[in-house]
Amino acid sequence: MNQVVKLDRHDVIAIITINYPPVNALSAAVRRGLVDSVNAAISDPEVKAIVLTCAGRTFIAGDDIKEFGKPPQPPSWNEMMAVLENSPKPIVAAIHGNGLGGGLEVALVCHFRVATQDAKLGLPEVKLGLLPGAGGTQRLPRAVGPELAVKMIVGGDPISAADALKYGLIEEIVVDPASGGEAFARKVLAEKRPLRRLRDDDSKLAAAKADRSIFTDAVTEMTKKARGREAPFVAAGAVGFAIDLPFEEGLRRELEGFNKLFAGGQSKAQQYAFFAERAAKKIAGLPEGTESRPVNRVAIIGAGTMGGGIAMSFANAGIAVTLVETSQEQLKRGMGVMQKNWEATAKRGGIPQDAPAKRMALINGVVGLENVKKADLIIEAVFETMAVKKEVFSKLDQYAKPGAVLASNTSYLSIDEIAKATKRPQDVLGMHFFSPANVMKLCEVVRAAKTAPDALATAVSIAREIAKVPVVVGVCHGFVGNRMYDRSGKQAEKLLFEGALPQQVDAVMTKFGMPMGTFVMHDMAGLDIGWLSRKERGVKSEIADALCEAGRYGLKAGKGYYKYEAGSRAPLPDPEVERLIGETLERLGLKRRVVSDDEVLERLMYPIINEGAKILEEGIASRPSDLDVVWLYGFGWPIYRGGPMYWADQIGLDKVLAKLKEFHASLGDDFKPAPLLENLVAEGKKFGELKQPAR
Ligand code: 3HC
Ligand code: NAI
Repeated sequence: MNQVVKLDRHDVIAIITINYPPVNALSAAVRRGLVDSVNAAISDPEVKAIVLTCAGRTFIAGDDIKEFGKPPQPPSWNEMMAVLENSPKPIVAAIHGNGLGGGLEVALVCHFRVATQDAKLGLPEVKLGLLPGAGGTQRLPRAVGPELAVKMIVGGDPISAADALKYGLIEEIVVDPASGGEAFARKVLAEKRPLRRLRDDDSKLAAAKADRSIFTDAVTEMTKKARGREAPFVAAGAVGFAIDLPFEEGLRRELEGFNKLFAGGQSKAQQYAFFAERAAKKIAGLPEGTESRPVNRVAIIGAGTMGGGIAMSFANAGIAVTLVETSQEQLKRGMGVMQKNWEATAKRGGIPQDAPAKRMALINGVVGLENVKKADLIIEAVFETMAVKKEVFSKLDQYAKPGAVLASNTSYLSIDEIAKATKRPQDVLGMHFFSPANVMKLCEVVRAAKTAPDALATAVSIAREIAKVPVVVGVCHGFVGNRMYDRSGKQAEKLLFEGALPQQVDAVMTKFGMPMGTFVMHDMAGLDIGWLSRKERGVKSEIADALCEAGRYGLKAGKGYYKYEAGSRAPLPDPEVERLIGETLERLGLKRRVVSDDEVLERLMYPIINEGAKILEEGIASRPSDLDVVWLYGFGWPIYRGGPMYWADQIGLDKVLAKLKEFHASLGDDFKPAPLLENLVAEGKKFGELKQPAR
C-alpha cells in the first residue's frame, strides 16, 4: 500500500502488515497506509476478513512520539479509528512484542484480538505525562472492566498475554502472530461470529455503575504514589467518564483531557525524559561495531551495604554471583541482610513467596579473593579508601582471568589511580551504583583514561541486563551524581546557620518533588559516621556536631535532625533541635534571619545546575540530558520536571545566571558561574541546544 504498510491476500483473508522499524510507531505514513489498506480490503469482494499484524520485533508501540509537536498530517486518528471500527468485515489484531499506547488502542478498535505468549499489552501514556487519547480510556474498561483498566491506565504498566486472556482483552494466545491471526480470522468466519465493537458493549461496566467504590478504590490505590503528577489523576477521571457517560461523550471528554495534558509542561518534561534515557544509550566515542565481552560469571567483592544491594540486583535478574568477603562473620552478616530484605518484600507481596529462597540460592558467599578466578566481571564494593582499593585491585590483577572486566563501585576515588594498581588498566572502570543498590536504577559507568571500548560496552550491557539505567561518565571527584549533589548538600547545611530549620529545607525539597529532603536522608544514613570522620580530620560542622554530642545519631537513635516515635520512621520536627541550633548560632555570634522558601530552593538547586555546566565543560559527561538521567534514576528527581538541566532551560538560563551572580558575592565559589553557562546566556541559547555527540 505504501512503503511502511503492505496488503496481501490469502484467498478470503486480507493480511495487513505494518513494517516501520524499530517499533512500528503510528506515524502519519503508517496511518495513511493502514487506512488505505483497510479501505482496499473492504472494497475487495473476495476478502471476507482482515488481519492486522506487524513485521519486526513488535506490534505497534504507540503513536509516533517523534512526530509530537509537529503540524498534524492526515489521516487523523479519528478518521483511522472510524475506518477500522466501522469495517463491515471482521478485523483481527494479531499482537506480538509490545502492543502499547496507540497500538493497543488500534487493537481495541478492531473486532478481535489475539497475541503471542510473550506479548505485553498496555497503555503507558501516563509515563509520558499523557492519557490514552484514542479511545483507550473508554474501550479498555469495556474490555476488561474498570478495576483493571484503572490499574493499567493510571499505573501505566503493561500486562502479560496470559493476563490479557484471563481478563478478556484478547481472545486467544497464538504461536505466530501472522499465521495465528489468520487462523483465528478463519475461525471467526467459520463460526459466523458477530463483529464485536467494544463501544457497544457496556456489560463489564455494570458492576462499577452499581457500586462506584470498585472504581474509586482502584483509583485511590493507583494514585498513592502519583504525588505532584497531573496525568494519573486526569487519566483516572477519564476512566470514570466511561462508567458515567455515553460512549461518544466519554470519548470527547477523554480527548479534552489528552489535549490539556499535551499542552502542559509536565508532559513535555516527561517526553524529554523518555528521549534522554534513550540518548544515554548512545556512548560517545565508542567505535562503531564495538562488541561487549561475554559475561557468564560475576563476582562481587564486599557484602556490605552496596555489595549486598548489587548482588541482589543480579539475583533479581536471575544471574548467579559469587560474593566475596574477608571473614565468615562478615559474610553471614551480609547474607542475612539480603535474606531479610527479600523476605520483607515477599511479605508485602512485592515478590512471590518462594522468591527469597530462590534468589539466595543464586548467591554463592565465599571468603577470600582467590575465588574470583572464573569471573568475567568483578565488581568491587569494599571500604572507601584508596589504600584498600589498591590492595584489592592488585590482588585481583593476580587472580582474575585475562580479559575479565574489573569494576569499582567507589563513590569518589579516581578510577585512573585504582587502575594503576593493576597491569591491565584497559580492563578497569567504575560501576557506581546508588543506594539502595537493589532499588535505585542508576549505574554510572566510569570510563577511565585507559578503559578499553569493549570493557566499557560490557559494563553498559550488563548494567542493562540487571535492569539498571547506565550512564557513561568520566573520572572526577564524585563523578556526576555525587559531585552535583554535594553542592546542594553543602547549601542545605549552610542554610541552618542562617535561620532555616531542617524541616523547612526538607519541605521545600519534597514540595518540589524530590522523594525526601537532605536532613531526613542524613538521619537515615546516621550522623555519627560523619562526626567521627570530622573528628579524625580535625574539621567541624558545628550544628551536626552539637546534635551528635547530644546523642542524636539519627533514625537508629530515635533522634537526629528530627525525632522518631518508637518503631516509626516518620520524621517529626523537634523543638529540641531548634533550641540546639539556636544555641549554636548564639555561640558562634550568628544572627538568625527569616529565609524564604524561594531562597531555599534557589540555594539548593542552582549550584547543582552550575556544577552540571562545569561537568559538561570538562567533558565528564557527553550531554546535558545524561546529567538529567543521573538525577532521575539516582536521586529520584521528579520526572515531570525533566531533570536539573532541563529544568534550568525552562526557568531561563539568564535568570539562573543572574541569581548565581547575586549569591556569588556572599556565598563563595559554588556560585561562581561556569563559563559554559555564561556563554550560553550570551548566545541566548539553552543547554538543550548544545551539540550532541554522534555516538
Ligand atoms: N514513537 C517513536 N519512537 C519510539 C517510540 C514511539 N512511540 N517508542 C520507541 N521509540 C524509539 C526510541 O526512541 C528508540 O529510538 P532510537 O533508537 O532512535 O533511540 C527506538 O524506538 C527503540 O526504543 P527503545 O530503545 O526504548 O527499545 P526497547 O526495545 O528497549 O523498548 C518499547 C521498546 C517498550 C516499545 C519502548 O520503546 C517504549 O516503551 N516506547 C514507548 C511506548 C509508549 O509510550 N507508547 C505510547 C505513546 S503515546 C500514544 O500512543 C498516544 C496515543 O494514546 C494517542
Ligand atoms: P560497607 O562498609 O557497608 O561494606 C564494605 C564491605 O567490604 C564490608 O562488609 C567489608 O567486610 C568488605 N571488605 C573490605 N575489604 C574487603 C576485602 N579485601 N575483600 C572482601 N571484602 C572486603 O561499605 P559500603 O557502604 O557498602 O561501601 C562500599 C563501597 O561502595 C565504597 O567504595 C563506597 O564509597 C561505595 N558506595 C557507597 C554508597 C553508600 O551509600 N553506602 C553508595 C555508592 C557507592
